[in-house]
Amino acid sequence: MAIGEAGLTSARPGSQPKRLEETMRGRLGRECVYVPSCRLGLFVALRHWCPPGGRVLMSPVNDDVIFFVVLAAGLRPVQAPLNPLDASIDIDAVPDEVWGSLSAVLTTNLYGNPDRAPELRRRCDASGIPLIEDAAHAIGSQVGGRPVGAWGDASVFSLSKHVGAKAGGMLSVADPDLRKALEETGRELLTPCRMTSELAFVVRPYAEAAVRGLRLRRAAWATLRLLGRMEREEIRMPLRPQALARAVAAAPDLAAHDPWVRVDLHDYRQESGRLRLARIARKLDRLDDVLAACRAGTELLLSTPWGRPGGTPGGPPKTGARPAPAAQPLFRVPLFVEDRDAAAAALARRGIIVGYLYDPPLDDYAGAAFTDPSPAPEGARWFARHALPVDPLRARAVIDALRESGVRPAGAPPGPTPGGPGPSRG
Ligand SMILES: Cc1ncc(COP(=O)(O)O)c(C=O)c1O
Repeated sequence: MAIGEAGLTSARPGSQPKRLEETMRGRLGRECVYVPSCRLGLFVALRHWCPPGGRVLMSPVNDDVIFFVVLAAGLRPVQAPLNPLDASIDIDAVPDEVWGSLSAVLTTNLYGNPDRAPELRRRCDASGIPLIEDAAHAIGSQVGGRPVGAWGDASVFSLSKHVGAKAGGMLSVADPDLRKALEETGRELLTPCRMTSELAFVVRPYAEAAVRGLRLRRAAWATLRLLGRMEREEIRMPLRPQALARAVAAAPDLAAHDPWVRVDLHDYRQESGRLRLARIARKLDRLDDVLAACRAGTELLLSTPWGRPGGTPGGPPKTGARPAPAAQPLFRVPLFVEDRDAAAAALARRGIIVGYLYDPPLDDYAGAAFTDPSPAPEGARWFARHALPVDPLRARAVIDALRESGVRPAGAPPGPTPGGPGPSRG
């Protein structure tokens, strides 16, 4: 395998990956290893911490790609009950026998809303299993006075989300002595850097801007479909259960699961070249500005009737009341609407495309052949059906569109509402 000077391989002082790692270490206070994508970092972590055949507690309201990474690592996904208000793991609703059967817990921190990491840390310590944090959506979120990603034995970040680089990830570890071993595992999984894909990466934002400028979105999608790059016509990608069963029989094996794991990011395991790394570095340097704007947009969206289930706006605090904690700088703000598809269509008519929908939950999508179902699936189903994840950077346009279209807020979720911070408050 050809290994160039950049990427996972070259953590030399002064090299581009090293600079990215130092920036992230400064933010998190932990050792960080650059990886070409969050999903590859997660695969490395799962392979390092979990024995093949192990069972991993995870959220069913999650990107399908993450589900397939767990399968690729030779592990059995175990779907957790969720708090319907923020899709965090409902720790108390996980039965004791499930706790006793696990090899690891994988959090999602969906849209940037933190899971209850301090309690999960305690539960994992009590069970003697690792906590792995998926912080892809939560690069600026805090929980229990620490950044999300600073609680787990390992945590993974995507530099495609808030950072907006459309490439790159970070694997962060509590024990700095593990760095070498993890780098080695990662290095073996890399495919060589290809100049054509580096160039495609560099010109892509200009091509996208041209498509937007010329209002050619439909034509561009048709072309992508023809080129076989449009793999998700629906919210979930096609499962293809027979082919998936063959891949699972070969696990742990990333290559066997490649058709599922690569979706939306075909370069996910390709060594990053200089051009890619330079763009990621420029974007990462501007992260604090992006986070400030996301926080402001999140606060605005949460103050609307759609900000909380039942339509009670979070709103600014009344005089004399205890000030509300600052909102998290969410990657997407899950608004709660009665008819999600109608609301998404209303936004689409105004050019606002809603992505990052995870409906149905993974246990309903993949079935018992591939995952242990949640013992209490209602919270996840309710969240998946009613949450409309919108970009906080477009908060005003979203609010205007929802008002003009008369979009109705969702009622309260069924059943008693579990504890926890609720949507997006720290
Ligand atoms: C929750 C979550 N985790 C991880 C990832 C993977 O990130 P990356 O695209 O950098 O591999 C995604 C991708 O959208 C995601 O939504």
